[in-house]
Amino acid sequence: MRNQVGALEFLGSFVDQFPEVGLPEIAFAGRSNVGKSSALNCLLNRKKAARVSSTPGRTQLINLFRVGKGCVFADLPGYGFARVPDSVQSNWKGMIENYLGGRDTLRLVVLLVDARRDPTRLDGELIAGLRAANIPFLVVATKIDKLKRSQQAKHIAQIRKGFQLKTEQLVPFSSMTGSGKDQVWDKIEQACVA
Ligand code: GTP
Ligand code: MG
Repeated sequence: MRNQVGALEFLGSFVDQFPEVGLPEIAFAGRSNVGKSSALNCLLNRKKAARVSSTPGRTQLINLFRVGKGCVFADLPGYGFARVPDSVQSNWKGMIENYLGGRDTLRLVVLLVDARRDPTRLDGELIAGLRAANIPFLVVATKIDKLKRSQQAKHIAQIRKGFQLKTEQLVPFSSMTGSGKDQVWDKIEQACVA
């Protein structure tokens, strides 16, 4: 599937009434500004398939990308950005829950967390929801390039412990350097054929 990234098609931005594509789908979720769109671009070898911004809350709709004839990537809006009003936050939450609960073709949720930060409540709630709904997920600890090598293992261990993850459910990652990219693709490809 990773060899089909050359044939990328943007399918559009959606709130609901998602198109039926009939391909396995991988969703990228996580807090606002954590680096979801960057991770997606990194995996797709693109600079700007998905819009990246230093302003949190840039991705406000669910953006779908078809990766050749292999799979679909869904770039979800980030949650937990303090500076948006509660009404907007709850809209986003509703949109994401509606998507996660109703998307038959969803095979894997790639949950991005910041490798430098302690596990947050909102991430924990999402993981609990995914576990309850039996939706396979992978936690990707991104921006690992911002940690000194000597600090990386400690942070990864904290995240694993905080979310009670199995070793294979957590990948250290950087969109900047591409570190962890092959491992994430391995998981995506496994999920698509499962
Ligand atoms: P929203 O759509 O607003 O929720 O944000 P997002 O999660 O899609 O984050 P986005 O990819 O737009 O990245 C946010 C900021 O983090 C940008 O300034 C990126 O350049 C930066 N960034 C993302 N990933 C990495 C990474 O792995 N390393 C470093 N150093 N910076 C990163
Ligand atoms: Mg984004």
